Amino acid sequence: MNKERYSKKLDIIQEAGNYRILRNTEHNGFLIHEEGREMLNLSSNDYLGLSSNPRLIEEFKAETDVMALPYSAVSSRLLSGNHQYYKMLEDDLADWYDKEASLVFNSGYHANIGILPALANKHDLILADKLVHASIIDGLRLSEAQMLRYKHLDYEHLQSILVAHREEYENVFIVTESIFSMDGDVADLQQLCEIKKEFDAFLYVDEAHAIGVRGTNGLGCCEEQACIEDIDFVVGTFGKAFASMGAFVVCEEIFRNYLINTQRSLIFTTALPPVNVAWTRFVLNRMPDFFELRNKLSEISGRLRNILKERGFEIRGCSHIVPMICGSNENSVDMSELLRDNGFFVLPVRYPTVPKNEARIRFSLNASIPYEDYECLFEFLGCLECE
Ligand SMILES: Cc1ncc(COP(=O)(O)O)c(C=O)c1O
Repeated sequence: MNKERYSKKLDIIQEAGNYRILRNTEHNGFLIHEEGREMLNLSSNDYLGLSSNPRLIEEFKAETDVMALPYSAVSSRLLSGNHQYYKMLEDDLADWYDKEASLVFNSGYHANIGILPALANKHDLILADKLVHASIIDGLRLSEAQMLRYKHLDYEHLQSILVAHREEYENVFIVTESIFSMDGDVADLQQLCEIKKEFDAFLYVDEAHAIGVRGTNGLGCCEEQACIEDIDFVVGTFGKAFASMGAFVVCEEIFRNYLINTQRSLIFTTALPPVNVAWTRFVLNRMPDFFELRNKLSEISGRLRNILKERGFEIRGCSHIVPMICGSNENSVDMSELLRDNGFFVLPVRYPTVPKNEARIRFSLNASIPYEDYECLFEFLGCLECE
């Protein structure tokens, strides 16, 4: 056995300023406590603040017999774990999106590592945006299909690949996120729908960071950009704005049946706890009510972007994910520490999660944080000097 190679690799990670730890934190709504410090949590995915919305939780308890709901499914959905709440949630999802069918998974990671490997075979091509999430990349690695990446949001590049290669493959899958997790920028879904039609391809859109946050009913960018109908696979996750756990795809019935029969990350894993599925369904059906929270998130994000720009910082995107580029891994760590010392919990995102010299502070905003607290943040940032 060679244990030394693990310690050597850890040394290398440490020297690169990239050593990760699991933090000991405690939570109180949008406040986070670490090492005796109380800070505003600006690094969570609780975009609407629903995880600690007491009224919502009370309403859920009032209309659901929570005590009767198991805290574990104790089995795969394909065995005895398919509690009735799954069907109710999937029917509601299909209705909201006006699609034939929906299928729920344990997480976005399970969805992304499973759907494409199940659907795409060695006669197929998967074309993914260069900046898609690690879970999609892992799915592409597991797939037998040929895989090519197009430059981030560069649809001319995507089209040039399709012109050159479409004829060589049986099925082609175009894969994108709607709001990109690290850059906070937004895909032009309407343009992608045009391209997929022109080249007879499938379109797969991961709405992890947009569901709950975008669209009149919170269905995501596909609703906001009015193109739900043309997207073959809309994937959403419940661990972010939904303040729950799990993920889903809405699609045609034939694909749902195919995934149930072939998707390994659905078949070979214990189903989500029924209590969790019931909560997700409850939140889904309340989503249209949260338009004020969605508006606030958009307003606050715009103000944060303006302040950072005024101070001379490079920022990316146009959403509630606001990346402030710091350059080296060390710079991003220093900036994060400065922010935490002043009561703002914002974590650095470093290479290799993002490209070299593009390490960043990634503000991830939460609509339940009061305006007064955001004013304190803006005041602090307004005094920062950009080097
Ligand atoms: C774009 C995207 N897809 C999928 C996932 C994974 O979702 P989950 O946390 O439910 O596994 C993430 C997680 O951050 C993500 O950013």
